[in-house]
Amino acid sequence: MKHLISPLDLSVEELDELMNVALDISKNPKKYAEVCHGKKIATLFYEPSTRTRLSFEAAMMNLGGNALGFSSASSSSAAKGESVADTIRIISCYADICAMRHPKEGAALVAAMNSSIPVINAGDGGHQHPTQTLTDLMTIRTLKGHLDHLTIGLCGDLKFGRTVHSLINALVRYSNVRFVLISPDELRVPSYIRHDVLEANGAEYQEVSQLEDALPKLDLLYMTRVQKERFFNEEEYIRMKDCYILDTKKMTLARPDMLVLHPLPRVNEISVEVDKDPRAVYFEQVQYGVYIRMALILKLLEIQV
Ligand code: CP
Repeated sequence: MKHLISPLDLSVEELDELMNVALDISKNPKKYAEVCHGKKIATLFYEPSTRTRLSFEAAMMNLGGNALGFSSASSSSAAKGESVADTIRIISCYADICAMRHPKEGAALVAAMNSSIPVINAGDGGHQHPTQTLTDLMTIRTLKGHLDHLTIGLCGDLKFGRTVHSLINALVRYSNVRFVLISPDELRVPSYIRHDVLEANGAEYQEVSQLEDALPKLDLLYMTRVQKERFFNEEEYIRMKDCYILDTKKMTLARPDMLVLHPLPRVNEISVEVDKDPRAVYFEQVQYGVYIRMALILKLLEIQV
């Protein structure tokens, strides 16, 4: 049985295969409409979510299956002290596959080790968010046509932003991908990502603090919000929260074909006026998230169509 805890659980070939299935789903949704009839996904969300939880539920329903679950720790027996290990043993009796989001790094791995159904990490603390990465890769491959030979700017909270950590982990495996890490000093990418991921894979990267300086050379800009929920000190969050704001004036510095991605939710870091710019693809990105999660469910349940 296979789980998805980190993007590295899938080889580059498996990623390609998954994106091919997702593309076919987007073109032929009726072909897939009943393939999960009788199957259930459990969404165990100990942290808030709009996109990830609902897109997993929509994905299973689009495949003809059903969804059950909880959307906060306080509405589950975690509030009475039940462990993740015990919870997943219970859920294994109710569902065929599960997606779990938890504030603690490693919680999805603990669930996988105690589960008799496939577990998908839907975000574990500031660590990883592999299905957001699948969504990002699908968006880039579809709209750019390739995942190699790209200069990618990652901007904002690179310290706590798990989507950034997962995306870097996935993209270092493609050739000639250069990273421009744009953050204030306080929110730099963690040293394990710099040393164990970027440097260990020989990836070219630079760290800068000015978005304006980086913009003209980028093929893609991946904006992120400052992760309020990971700060211990509210004053520090307030000082950092508007460190970057992408507006139409800054967009004039970017190439005509530079894409703007964002895992969402957005707070202030992209002005709403940028939404009208055809280079802003963060709402399209959300739709790709449903197709790729459908493809992932089929893969983990070993359903061939
Ligand atoms: N991108 C993302 O993980 O969004 P949610 O927190 O709404 O699931």
